[in-house]
Amino acid sequence: MADQYAQTGEDKRPTDIPALRWEEPPEGPVLVLLDQTRLPAEEVELVCTDAPALVEAIRSLAVRGAPLLGIAGAYGVALAAVRGYDVDDAANALAGARPTAVNLAVGVRRAHAAYRAALADGGGAPRAAEAALAAARALHREDAEASARMAAHGLALLDELLPGGGHRVLTHCNTGSLVSGGEGTAFAVALAAHRAGRLRRLWVDETRPLLQGARLTAYEAARNGMAYTLLADNAAGSLFAAGEVDAVLIGADRIAADGSVANKVGSYPLAVLARYHHVPFIVVAPVTTLDPDTPDGAAIEVEQRPGYEVTEISVPQVPVTGAGGGVPIAPLGTQAYNPAFDVTPPELVTAIVTEEGVVSPVTAQALAGLGAGAPRR
Ligand code: MRU
Repeated sequence: MADQYAQTGEDKRPTDIPALRWEEPPEGPVLVLLDQTRLPAEEVELVCTDAPALVEAIRSLAVRGAPLLGIAGAYGVALAAVRGYDVDDAANALAGARPTAVNLAVGVRRAHAAYRAALADGGGAPRAAEAALAAARALHREDAEASARMAAHGLALLDELLPGGGHRVLTHCNTGSLVSGGEGTAFAVALAAHRAGRLRRLWVDETRPLLQGARLTAYEAARNGMAYTLLADNAAGSLFAAGEVDAVLIGADRIAADGSVANKVGSYPLAVLARYHHVPFIVVAPVTTLDPDTPDGAAIEVEQRPGYEVTEISVPQVPVTGAGGGVPIAPLGTQAYNPAFDVTPPELVTAIVTEEGVVSPVTAQALAGLGAGAPRR
């Protein structure tokens, strides 16, 4: 297939608005989010002054992606503590806002544990709030460091598996700086390959129904000047068949103890395609995404989202008419099947790249050795 399908982003402005930041204006501390539901049309910020506002932002996907959900959840606990709300209630609501990405509950638990430990030490509520905020900041910083290490490990793996260079990588959903304290997970590996002059093409799945690939990954690829091409999800099969994909790089929302990987719906079909076409299927995730308490894929709770996300399309600039605030694309009353994630069994995963190194082959035993120092509770 000719390079006529490649598109190099012209807009090389860095994404200067971070996905999330803590601010302390005179009116009181706030968590400021880049509203990802508005991208790429507009860069609009969402200011959360309490945990319920953050829960709503999480449910609506204004803030999303496993690592960032963990960071947001931790800051949410700090926000409740600093503003004097009920911290236990806030932690419960935040941890349950979305069920699949384990990072959310892990981040919430970490800040909550720091808060409770400081209270138990007799420091009083202000010291406990400081402890929760310090825990959130530490998680944020550690995620950025993990992202840089995953990028290095992932690029080394790509170079080893594909010695010819000129990697053509297919990715799904969005896994860049919009989901991370750093440059992301799978996207960070592709970005490292781009910077090293070894990324020939980033194939970007549009990622129906909410279009995280088209709206967010294409936005990040363009801003980084990467050669990228957007495709409808169901075009992936013909792309593999044409020999145009050298590797698949995806993130993860939860990795069970046996190595089963929950990620954005549409990942599993890519793993099947990759196996059939003898293409490496590589998962990139920080150790905070490993969940030793979930034994296997069947035990992962997959979030089911409203049907209108499938029966309607939401485009910020188009007048809304549907029940979900979008433009209907199916007859009124159409039932929809809308799982947000699917689960890829470990035997279809070539490697899992974490900040601690590469696991390949993917086995329960190899995964059990990771994340020993990472606080989970
Ligand atoms: O529903 P989303 O947009 O939160 O889903 C995000 C994904 O599935 C990502 O691929 C996953 O969180 C990994 S991000 C590093």
